[in-house]
Amino acid sequence: MEKLQQAAKIAFASEYSFYLKAHFFHWNVEGIYFQELHDLFGNIYEEVYGSIDGFAERIRAIGAYAPGSNSRFSVLTQIDDETQVPPAEVMVQQLLQDSDNMVVILKKVYDIAEVAGEHGFSNFLAERMDAHRKHSWQLRATTK
Ligand SMILES: [Fe+2]
Repeated sequence: MEKLQQAAKIAFASEYSFYLKAHFFHWNVEGIYFQELHDLFGNIYEEVYGSIDGFAERIRAIGAYAPGSNSRFSVLTQIDDETQVPPAEVMVQQLLQDSDNMVVILKKVYDIAEVAGEHGFSNFLAERMDAHRKHSWQLRATTK
């Protein structure tokens, strides 16, 4: 259970970092594709943000406290921080790579949850993986 709790906290912090980066890009994207990318990043951050509360409460349900501070998130997250405002195409590339990474991070927790018999939690994680595959598809399609 401790292994599941730790992996879940890492995935949760990573999801929060991913959400924040998508929102950050939504605010600051520039260029001739401003409107399309502003909207695409907007749809992504809203979807991911919508998962955050349920994710935290599932961490509570497996007996751990949910992290909720920037310093804890920065220690736990596996999504790289972005402090600069990159060009629009770099934003798309970065978020695509991060979304693909989220699938890998979530899959690790999924496997541990399955072994632990936490099928409710693994169902939730499978849905998060599906959501990130969709985000990856849309970001990847933008780069073609
Ligand atoms: Fe907005």
